[in-house]
Amino acid sequence: MFNKTINYSQQNIDKSDVNAITKSLSNSVLTQGKEIIRFESNLKKYFKAKYASVVSSGTAALHLAATSLGWNKNDFIITTPLTFIATANSILYRNAKPIFIDINLKDYHIDLNKLETKLKTSRKKIKAVIAVDYAGNPCDWKNLSYLAKKYSFKLINDNCHALGAKYNGQKDYSTKYADIVTQSFHPLKNITTGEGGAIITNNYKIFNRINKLRNHSLELSKSKNYWDKEVNELGFNFRLTEFQASLGSNQLSKVDYLIKKKQLIAKKYNEHFKKIENITIPPVRKNCYHAYHIYPLLIDFKKLNLNKSSMMNYFLKNNFRLQVHYKPIHTYKLYKKLFRFKNHDFPVSLKFFNEEVSIPIFPNLKKNTQNKFIDLLYKFLKI
Ligand SMILES: Cc1ncc(COP(=O)(O)O)c(C=O)c1O
Repeated sequence: MFNKTINYSQQNIDKSDVNAITKSLSNSVLTQGKEIIRFESNLKKYFKAKYASVVSSGTAALHLAATSLGWNKNDFIITTPLTFIATANSILYRNAKPIFIDINLKDYHIDLNKLETKLKTSRKKIKAVIAVDYAGNPCDWKNLSYLAKKYSFKLINDNCHALGAKYNGQKDYSTKYADIVTQSFHPLKNITTGEGGAIITNNYKIFNRINKLRNHSLELSKSKNYWDKEVNELGFNFRLTEFQASLGSNQLSKVDYLIKKKQLIAKKYNEHFKKIENITIPPVRKNCYHAYHIYPLLIDFKKLNLNKSSMMNYFLKNNFRLQVHYKPIHTYKLYKKLFRFKNHDFPVSLKFFNEEVSIPIFPNLKKNTQNKFIDLLYKFLKI
């Protein structure tokens, strides 16, 4: 039963991935060896960036980004409520204060007009903005970096959905505009290492600190003897293993091909759903190439006089396990308790949450399975 169920996303592991892992398992070291260096060098090449540090998860990448910038309890950090909980938690790990700015419905990203109003009127100094390339569609990076310079804050790109996306034809856009870029290699992301993540930057100071922090901040002491280490700052064990890194390198070599396959799936959905009233296909920003980590379909259940839970259960009964991305962060009990948020504080994200359904998109989704999904949706919508 479980195996038959089609998820909204699915990792893509082939023989070459298995071979890469198997080969690395015969190396003399299983962590902190040459596969890590190779994966980092491949990421640097892909992003045309100076530095990359791979870590144990995308959450660890955000945590280290926040730590490297020295956020503390007096700092205010802006992000969007429409993201995975890890984005905002990275602010809380440092005891800093999150400020949410609602999304806009043009591209599902942080609303830049509302952001600028906040930056203009806030009596609190905003230390950083974490912008999320939701679903795999790049944000308006030119204007974000213009605001970062004008109001002097650091810009983090939570790029966990968008590895392989292009902005004005460039897939290395993120490191061009943001001070720090974070990646996740969770199985359902565009490439996977099982669990894993990375921080990519052109800033040596940030890189150097992160590189130490991921390994307990251990560094060579003055003696320079390899067995004599020094620690100046509280660090973590956020290391990735060698076999995960070898899988990462192999996956990265295929990512453009895998995204092309997702693009074809998205194109077919778009053709079917773009003309249906009260249904919205995912927007693609002008001059951008969508990486389709997910395909968020908006269904105005109210106007269609339909019920979202009924739809999710209907599909589950038919062996499709759809998902919702995301319950807005300000509506979680933890955030309400800590910051007194009310559900209606960010109405656009809330409306989005009520209407969004992530439908199956992954490179090996079979044509007849996609057709079956489309037919079922027509049936559910009574079209
Ligand atoms: C936008 C975003 N940020 C951060 C993360 C955290 O990544 P990980 O699951 O690898 O810790 C995710 C993963 O789901 C994500 O979607």
